[in-house]
Amino acid sequence: MAFPPAPRTYKVKSFGCQMNVYDGERMAELLAAQGMTAAGDGADADLVVLNTCHIREKAVDRVYSDIGRLRRDDGSTPLIAVAGCIAQAEGEEIMARAPSVRMVVGPQAYHRLPAMLAEAVTGKRVTDTDMPADTKFDALPARRRSGPAAFLTVQEGCDKFCTYCVVPYTRGAEISRPFKALIDEAERLVAAGAREITLLGQNVNAWSGEDSKGCAIGLDGLAKALARLPDLKRIRYTTSHPNDMTDGLIAAHAEVEKLMPFLHLPVQAGNDRVLKAMNRSHTVDSYLRLLERVRAARPDIALSGDFIVGFPGETEAEFADTLSLVDAVGYAQAFSFKYSPRPGTPAATMDGPIAPEVMDERLQRLQAALNRDQLAFNQASVGRRCDVLVERRGKLPGQWLGKSPWLQSVHFTADAAVGDLLTVDLAEAGPNSLRGHVLENAAA
Ligand code: 5AD
Ligand code: SF4
Repeated sequence: MAFPPAPRTYKVKSFGCQMNVYDGERMAELLAAQGMTAAGDGADADLVVLNTCHIREKAVDRVYSDIGRLRRDDGSTPLIAVAGCIAQAEGEEIMARAPSVRMVVGPQAYHRLPAMLAEAVTGKRVTDTDMPADTKFDALPARRRSGPAAFLTVQEGCDKFCTYCVVPYTRGAEISRPFKALIDEAERLVAAGAREITLLGQNVNAWSGEDSKGCAIGLDGLAKALARLPDLKRIRYTTSHPNDMTDGLIAAHAEVEKLMPFLHLPVQAGNDRVLKAMNRSHTVDSYLRLLERVRAARPDIALSGDFIVGFPGETEAEFADTLSLVDAVGYAQAFSFKYSPRPGTPAATMDGPIAPEVMDERLQRLQAALNRDQLAFNQASVGRRCDVLVERRGKLPGQWLGKSPWLQSVHFTADAAVGDLLTVDLAEAGPNSLRGHVLENAAA
C-alpha cells in the first residue's frame, strides 16, 4: 500500500463549541511549529484535521460525510486526523468504519499530534484518546498570533453529569488551568493584538486557582487580574452553570468595568420535574432568583441561555413552562436544540421518547419566542451609545463589523481598522445585527 508523503500543508476544521475553536487554533499552531503551512482557502491540504463535536447526533453524521467528501477524483485522500469529542467517544468505530482516517486524537491528547504524525506517515493508523492528568497545555507552543477577539480556555471538563450530556465522558473531570499559565497566555495574546478575551470552559465559572500571592481565587479574581492588563479592553466568559455563579462573580459584574455586560447561563428547561430528570440541580425559581441578583449588580446585562426541547417524558404542559420562563426572562439571545439521545448517557434509556414531529413543533414555537425577544432586545438598544470592537470588514465597501458590549453584531461605515474600539451610536436594529454611526471624534 502507498503511504501518504509527509504532509507539508494542513487544514484544521473545527465543529461545535468555542472550546473546539480554541483547540483547533492550538492544533494549527502546533502544526505550524513543525514547519507545516496552512493550506489556503479552498486549496487541497496534505493533512486535514476534523476537530469534531459529539454533543448531538447530527454532528456525528456530518463527520462521516466530511470524511467521504475528502476523497479526491483520483481516489486518493489527504492524511485525515479525527480530533475532538467524537474521536474521544467513538475512536474505535471511526477507525473501523472509515479506513481513510489515519489518526484519532482526543481533546486531552492533541499535544501529541506531531509524534502521532511521525508514525502515521510510516503507514500506521494511530489512536490516542488518553486523558492524562498532566496538562497538555504545557506541551503546546506559546501563542504568537491573535485577532482582536481571542479565546482562552481556562477550565475543561465537567462533573455535573446532566443526564442528556456526553461532555463529562468526552472531556473528563473538571480541571482548572493554573493562574500563572493563564496570565502568561493572556499577556501573549494581548501582545499579539487581542483586545478582548473570552475565557472558556465547559463550566467556566467553576474555575478556581491561586493568585500570585497564593490566595485562593475564583473566576472573579481571575477576571480582576486580567483587567489589570492595560491593552486588554474587554473580558467575557462562557459557559456558566447556575450552581457555580458565586456572589463574587455576580459582584464582579458591578465592579470590573472591563467585564462585559453579558451572561450565558443555560437553563435547559422551565419545569422542575424536567430539570430534576435532567439532573440540573437547580430549579426554575432558584434560576430566576439568581438572574435577579445578576440584574441587580448589572442592570443592563444581556442574558443568553441554552434550551433542550423534547427531553424524554416532556409533556405539553411542561414545555409550556419553558415558554413561560422565556417570557419571564427576556433573553437577548439563546440557543435551542431538539433532545438527541447520546449513547452511554442516562437519558438515552429513559422512558417516554418524544415523537420527532412533536419536537419539531416545540422547537419552532420556542425559537419564535426567542427570536421575538432577541429582536426586542436589539430594538431596545437603539439610541444607546456604546463601544464597538472592530473585528472585520463588512460586505459593502467601507463597511466594518464589530461587537457591542452586549455581544450584538454592529455594522457601520467609517474609516476604521481591525482592533479599533470605537464609540458608536446604535441607530437601527434587525433580528441579528444593528447598524451604528461612529462618532467622528472617537476613532482610536
Ligand atoms: N441533546 C440536545 N441538546 C444537548 N445539549 C447537550 N446535550 C444535548 C443533547 N443530548 C445542549 C445543551 C447544552 C448545549 C451546549 O448543548 O443545551 O447547554
Ligand atoms: Fe453537559 Fe451539564 Fe456539564 Fe453542561 S453542565 S457540560 S450540559 S453535563
